[in-house]
Amino acid sequence: MTSSATTLTTDLQALQQTAIAAISAVDSLDRLEELRLAYLGKKGQLSQILRAMGQLGPEDRPQIGAIANEVKETLQAKVDNQRQTLQNAQIQAQLAAETLDVTLPGVSRPLGRQHPLNSTIDRVLEIFVGLGYTVAEGPQIETDYYNFEALNTPADHPARDMQDTYYLPEGKLLRTHTSSVQIRYMEAEEPPIRIIAPGRVYRRDTVDATHSAVFHQVELLAVDEGLSFSDLKGTIKEFLMAMFGDELPIRFRASYFPFTEPSAEVDVQWKGRWLEVMGCGMVDPNVLKAVGYDPEIYTGFAAGFGVERFALVLHQIDDIRRLYSSDLRFLRQF
Ligand code: DAH
Repeated sequence: MTSSATTLTTDLQALQQTAIAAISAVDSLDRLEELRLAYLGKKGQLSQILRAMGQLGPEDRPQIGAIANEVKETLQAKVDNQRQTLQNAQIQAQLAAETLDVTLPGVSRPLGRQHPLNSTIDRVLEIFVGLGYTVAEGPQIETDYYNFEALNTPADHPARDMQDTYYLPEGKLLRTHTSSVQIRYMEAEEPPIRIIAPGRVYRRDTVDATHSAVFHQVELLAVDEGLSFSDLKGTIKEFLMAMFGDELPIRFRASYFPFTEPSAEVDVQWKGRWLEVMGCGMVDPNVLKAVGYDPEIYTGFAAGFGVERFALVLHQIDDIRRLYSSDLRFLRQF
């Protein structure tokens, strides 16, 4: 072997040794690829050494070529092997990190619940929808016409004092009852009518255990040919039984509302006393006239329920003000 062939052999052996050490020590796939290019790539160290083979005589070439090939194969095998090792380690690490411990306690997310006023309204609507009624709505900011005038309650009518009103600029007011929805609905539709209209109402009341300045009503209206007071009574009884069960004693009491004739109030017995829960009556002919219906053909009955009163009875609540507090200890009970 010529001396240059000996030098080349030594270089190749040295390259193999350092490369194997470096490849074994590498701990990332990126770094491994860098090393592969540095040793085995086109411009890598092995290629550089082999370029020197051009200066060898033909007698040395086969031997050095064989050594070079062996080095190349050894290093390539080493790189492949190391790559496999690193990939396995990576998969193991990923599996370990993604292990799901099914015995860990779950994260509990508190569930919100329906406010007792809303569930009471829903219950009322459900009962009436079951009887064939349609749910209707109207604005909370009303005009004097819809809240009073069209309901047979002109400006000088003493009944206006029954409902102390919050007045707004430009002749507007906060509706004092949902009866205004009766007028809006009848103006827009023709009989026969069966509606149930829930909503918020406002009165300048002194707040106490059974009064609030903002409260909720559900309005009932039926207009058809031949409706009578017994239809009203039957409907209300049916409803109260569905709402409270038949054990709760109820009574009809003669009363007065400008928009009904005759008028009645309905009380339910609760905690040993009678609690008024609604006003009702036969729709006054003047109201039918105001919306262009012929009172000779059509008659109607109507009622207005106090939602808060219902909620008190249904849930045995002692003070209406609890319904408007955000006390979670109270609200979580429903
Ligand atoms: N609007 C009345 C009030 O707020 C309640 C009422 C009474 C409604 C008789 C009616 C009714 O529809 O017929 O006190």
